[in-house]
Amino acid sequence: MSKVDVLLGLQWGDEGKGKIVDVLTPKYDIVARFQGGPNAGHTLEFNGTKHVLHTIPSGIFHDHVTNVVGNGVVIDPVVFATEIEKLQAKNVDVASRLLISKKAHLILPTHKLLDAASEAEKGKSKIGSTLKGIGPTYMDKTGRNGLRIGDILSNNFLEKYNTLVEKHKKMLTHFHFEYSLDEMEAKWFEGIEILKTLTFIDSENYLHKAIREDKKILAEGAQGSLLDIDFGSYPFVTSSNTVAAGACTGLGIAPNSIGSAFGIFKAYCTRVGSGPFPTELENEVGERMRKEGNEFGSTTGRARRCGWLDIPALRYACRLNGITELYMMKADVLSIFEEILICTHYNINGIQTDEMPYDLLDGKVEPIYTSLKGWNADLTKIRTIEEFPQELSDYIAFIEKEMEIPITYVSVGPDREQTIVR
Ligand code: GDP
Ligand code: IMO
Ligand code: MG
Repeated sequence: MSKVDVLLGLQWGDEGKGKIVDVLTPKYDIVARFQGGPNAGHTLEFNGTKHVLHTIPSGIFHDHVTNVVGNGVVIDPVVFATEIEKLQAKNVDVASRLLISKKAHLILPTHKLLDAASEAEKGKSKIGSTLKGIGPTYMDKTGRNGLRIGDILSNNFLEKYNTLVEKHKKMLTHFHFEYSLDEMEAKWFEGIEILKTLTFIDSENYLHKAIREDKKILAEGAQGSLLDIDFGSYPFVTSSNTVAAGACTGLGIAPNSIGSAFGIFKAYCTRVGSGPFPTELENEVGERMRKEGNEFGSTTGRARRCGWLDIPALRYACRLNGITELYMMKADVLSIFEEILICTHYNINGIQTDEMPYDLLDGKVEPIYTSLKGWNADLTKIRTIEEFPQELSDYIAFIEKEMEIPITYVSVGPDREQTIVR
């Protein structure tokens, strides 16, 4: 019997999960996504080419690996079809490497409209959703109205679709929101036809069998722990459980089937969309970080907000996930700074704490920093830890001591090769 390793983001998403899944894939037989949907954008870079995946697991470029889209994922047939087309254009034989859970829910065009209408109504207090229909789709799932992949094969699929769309149209009348559905629907049904060419499975049964056969399985998280529906900075979160426990419900595997939990974090912090961000740098330093790190969304192209590393938030995320190994990404981006700050505590109304408060309200949580000397040297060509500047080793040692978890990989650039094992 094998165990399922879980890999996930510890911050507000975009930590570099796609890159690391790709690096680790040679060790695995199966890579499985367990939550989220096309709100994710996972970037992989190798042989001079960049690839961005939204719903398809990041193991897809390896021909020995089976990629599973689990029941916890929500699928937009339009985005899915585009992803498949792009992969096929790169000669990736998607159909033979990809399995989709019959229990994964479908994002309808009207889910996207409801997402947009709800955000427009919220005005200034909007979540900053990617507008991919994620929230409304998970609402229909928990509200027991959703359409699932398995329904595509049922004789009354169209009837089920129309019933749900009628409900959505009624809901849309409550918003001041103009829309036209016809073109979106046509594309959606084209996407459904492309989905039909793929293999639908009961992914929990498939994975149970794989575990018994001692297959090596990696569960790939989307978003980050601080966007988790329960533990993130609610309501500025996504609509799924992004923490390790989500792998159990999103794949149908038992808690005692989980092996290692790999926590991915950037050497600093970023956030795209609204919501509190204690260490955010709304100044020239943040601008430089954004420029150096090319911090623009892989899914929406939006500028990501940037700030220093936040230890209380990172520790909180590690505890929620039972992290066994940390992977530090984008160390090269901090090479531009003479001095690097790390937030070790918060000051909340005059009280110092290193715990995550109930409410990370903007402005009320003041970060307390420790200053470390920067390394100020190019890291991008480094391939061994022996070549690390002392200041980088000190930075890593500081974080390991605070977290009490080893940092086993350090990433110094977007390419597969720019990954150093410690
Ligand atoms: P994900 O959503 O967690 O998979 O992360 P994204 O792909 O959305 O964002 C991470 C971005 O950083 C991508 O553009 C990656 O190519 C890039 N990246 C990953 N690791 C590194 C690194 O170590 N250094 C630099 N400079 N870029 C990196
Ligand atoms: P990956 O997997 C970064 C953010 C959105 C918004 C909030 C809710 O690439 O790390 P949603 O569309 O889910 O309703 O948006 O969550 N968000 C992400 N931020 N990376 C992601 O995914 C994200 N997926 C959602 O910006 O603030
Ligand atoms: Mg991303």
